[in-house]
Amino acid sequence: MKKPLVKILSIAIVCTLFNTQMNSQNKDIEKKIDSLMNLMTLEEKVGQMNQYNGFWNLTGPAPEEGNAKLKYDHLRSGLVGSMLNVRGAENARKIQEIVVNETRLGIPLIFGYDVIHGQKTITPIPLAEAASWDLKAIEMSARVAATEAAAEGIHWTFAPMMDISRDARWGRVMEGGGEDPYLGAKIGVARVKGFQGDDLSAPNTIAACAKHFAAYGFAESGKDYNTVDIGTSTLYNIVFPPFKAAVDHNVRTVMNSFNILNGIPATGNKFLQRDVLKEMWGFDGFIISDWGSGKEMIDHGFAKDLKEVARLAANAGSDMDMESYAYVAHLKDLVESGTVSEKVIDQAVRRILRVKFELGLFDDPYRYCDTVREQELMNHPDHHAAALDMARKSIVLLKNEGNLLPLTKDQKKIAVIGALASDKNSPLGSWRLASEDNSAVSVLEGLQRYSSEITYARGPELVVGETTFINEVRINETDRSGFQEAVQLAKNSEVVIMVLGEHGFQSGEGRSRAELDLPGLQQELLEAVHGVNKNVILVLNNGRPLAFPWASENIPAILEAWQLGSQTGHAVAQVLFGEYNPSGKLPMTFPRSVGQVPIYYNHFNTGRPGPIELVFWTHYIDENNAPLYPFGYGLSYTEFSYSDLKIDAANPKDVKVSVTVTNKGDRMGEEVAQLYIRDKVASNVRPVKELKGFEKFSLKPNESKKITFSLTENELGFYMPDGDFVVEPGEFDVMVGGSSVEGLSGSFVLK
Ligand code: GLC
Repeated sequence: MKKPLVKILSIAIVCTLFNTQMNSQNKDIEKKIDSLMNLMTLEEKVGQMNQYNGFWNLTGPAPEEGNAKLKYDHLRSGLVGSMLNVRGAENARKIQEIVVNETRLGIPLIFGYDVIHGQKTITPIPLAEAASWDLKAIEMSARVAATEAAAEGIHWTFAPMMDISRDARWGRVMEGGGEDPYLGAKIGVARVKGFQGDDLSAPNTIAACAKHFAAYGFAESGKDYNTVDIGTSTLYNIVFPPFKAAVDHNVRTVMNSFNILNGIPATGNKFLQRDVLKEMWGFDGFIISDWGSGKEMIDHGFAKDLKEVARLAANAGSDMDMESYAYVAHLKDLVESGTVSEKVIDQAVRRILRVKFELGLFDDPYRYCDTVREQELMNHPDHHAAALDMARKSIVLLKNEGNLLPLTKDQKKIAVIGALASDKNSPLGSWRLASEDNSAVSVLEGLQRYSSEITYARGPELVVGETTFINEVRINETDRSGFQEAVQLAKNSEVVIMVLGEHGFQSGEGRSRAELDLPGLQQELLEAVHGVNKNVILVLNNGRPLAFPWASENIPAILEAWQLGSQTGHAVAQVLFGEYNPSGKLPMTFPRSVGQVPIYYNHFNTGRPGPIELVFWTHYIDENNAPLYPFGYGLSYTEFSYSDLKIDAANPKDVKVSVTVTNKGDRMGEEVAQLYIRDKVASNVRPVKELKGFEKFSLKPNESKKITFSLTENELGFYMPDGDFVVEPGEFDVMVGGSSVEGLSGSFVLK
């Protein structure tokens, strides 16, 4: 139905006014930056490019020794532009007061923090949220995090992580959006919107940070911080798209990465930071280094000393130095000696001041330091309600043989087994910096709220000794106490819920694994329990795809429950007892064995896709080529059917693909219809399948819905190795279904 002309005109007028207003605001900010920079000395400009880690609680005496004193003195002399890890409205105010009242120009600090998935109210780890494919819920989750962080005096989060990764051994897959650039881009943008909102100066929005630029997720052998050496086709088609989407949606900061990319460390990489990010994409925020990543260029063998670090990083476009002490020590001399142009400094400072003005910090440096608001908002019930909704939508049902699930309310004699079932910390994930210890609702607590028929036996401990954000986790391989008690309980129960997987600190930064199995004694316990009771429901708590072929073969029901944050127990219980029908889909491929890794759905066909009788084709002689569970896969308690696939390619600039989805079961459910294409023949080979559209919706029993996708140049084109974006005519396959391995297929010829 056409909108009346007057409506269209008024919308256009409003948009023009809005843009004009935004432009005039931007022009206003640029003028303010000009006048401020005209007052600044070179030393004060360099100070803006320097970020220190906060470490003290200023409600106590200010530190008088060591580098604490150095930082304190630098704060007072205007040599610090930002701090990270300062938390609490009162703390932030005290540190801000030093800078605003004691420095010559009183330029406010910008406080950054790793608000990765929640601040006090912890939402599911980002990989779990990605499994929801629910962009609105993901945006809301980031909004909750921003509201609580801003209430604690924080202006800026070092999130979302946009790193695509195909390697489950890498500990930081928990922090991203999975293996696919299309899904990763959509999710990253939803998070940026959630953090930044429509008005960065509002007291409940914070600047976001697209990280880690770039290709950090392609670390060789999945080892964190390891070498990255990839072709430019992968760079342009897989690594860059999520970052470009974030820039196109006005992300205000970008963090460069620890790794080298094809021989050059990202922090000193001009191609990445100036040529691509700032020039090609027009990014107008600022780039922060990663923690000490500047200084690490010495270890990389790219800079001979800290002075050269300052020169290389500044010239390459890294605007702010996190904890390398390179800029504050050497940039002034480098400019005065003519080695680094003052223009480089001015460009960086302008970008940093721009974001500070946008945050409203010059209007009111204490806008985010309201202890009353802090009191009101932290752990607000509405935030926990949003966290619960996000958590249950993130759960993926992998197997449900004989419809063992959902359990009924009158289910008797339910055994709950596993150390993770009662763990109130692991469900918070590894990036839970600001949360309270033991603040998660454990799976056991969630189940006990649902049923009085629960009996718990922990079984052997999963870890030995204390585990923290910074130390290695020691897995229990020997202490079997609790083993027999657990098996005995299973024997005397009607159904067994086993909560197994990884400790919260077995994934995350610095937590790469060489194996992807169930750690410690868990597999042995699972087999022993299954030996005495076949009615086993396996609930996985993990921060990465795991390989569990025996369980996949023998256990009748398997739920992927990741690390779901504060509301874990309630979310798992609601799914197990059918109050919520699971709707998640895997954002990353689950391998059969670690030997298959990297394994991903959007691979190339190769010249020998096979299978053939002889051995000469792309395969292993000792393992299947197929994954354990594929990208985009997830079951429901109901069943969806796809029919009536139609493709209309008359307009090559807007190819329409439609399909009808029907709920064939007896309960309401949500489905994620996924559209994949294959460009059959191209001047640079294209993957056998590429996700180019998805839609999540709910259907009542017997209800049908027609879904229409649009394939424009953006979806049909690809980047050549030289960075040129091309759309080539020719035949395309299309598949629409509930995962990357099943659906209705068709094809069209793009003219
Ligand atoms: C860490 C991480 C980065 C984080 C930063 C500040 O090493 O790589 O993602 O934001 O340091 O904590």
